[in-house]
Amino acid sequence: MLSDSMCEALNRQVNAEMYSAYLYQSMAAWALNQGLKGLANWMDCQAREEMVHAFKIYRYVDERNGRVRLTAIDGPPIDWDSPVALAKDVAAHEAKVTALINGLVDLAIEERDHATRSFLNWFVDEQVEEESGAGEFVQKLELASESPGGLFMVDREFGQRVFSPPPAEGE
Ligand SMILES: [Fe+2]
Ligand SMILES: [Fe+2]
Repeated sequence: MLSDSMCEALNRQVNAEMYSAYLYQSMAAWALNQGLKGLANWMDCQAREEMVHAFKIYRYVDERNGRVRLTAIDGPPIDWDSPVALAKDVAAHEAKVTALINGLVDLAIEERDHATRSFLNWFVDEQVEEESGAGEFVQKLELASESPGGLFMVDREFGQRVFSPPPAEGE
């Protein structure tokens, strides 16, 4: 059974992951409007992954006999000055999410909630990938913006990303 404080903290993280999805979908919409279909595809995949993260926590809260309570999701920004500015926002956002995950781990340790601490390890590892992926994303767009045709090339590459849904759990 989860403590009330841990349950609340995990519920806040469900909201934060859904906000991440909302932010990245907003970036996808901006990219589509700019004619950058590949970048839009990359952000679509990113948004869908965030919903997978949210659902992972949602299921865990229920599994531990906690109650999931969904709350209002903030409206994301809708405009960016350039693809590089957008990518830098992705990187900054992922750094923020890492801090949130670390905060949850701190709480699990404080409460000696070993199950939650173990559950959160997946997210700790995931954030290492997310931050490194975001860093590469910024770098590619910065390089692309320096050469004519660069953005076209990198957009085509971003168009190749495929979202792979996680295997069904508990089956
Ligand atoms: Fe996430
Ligand atoms: Fe993420």
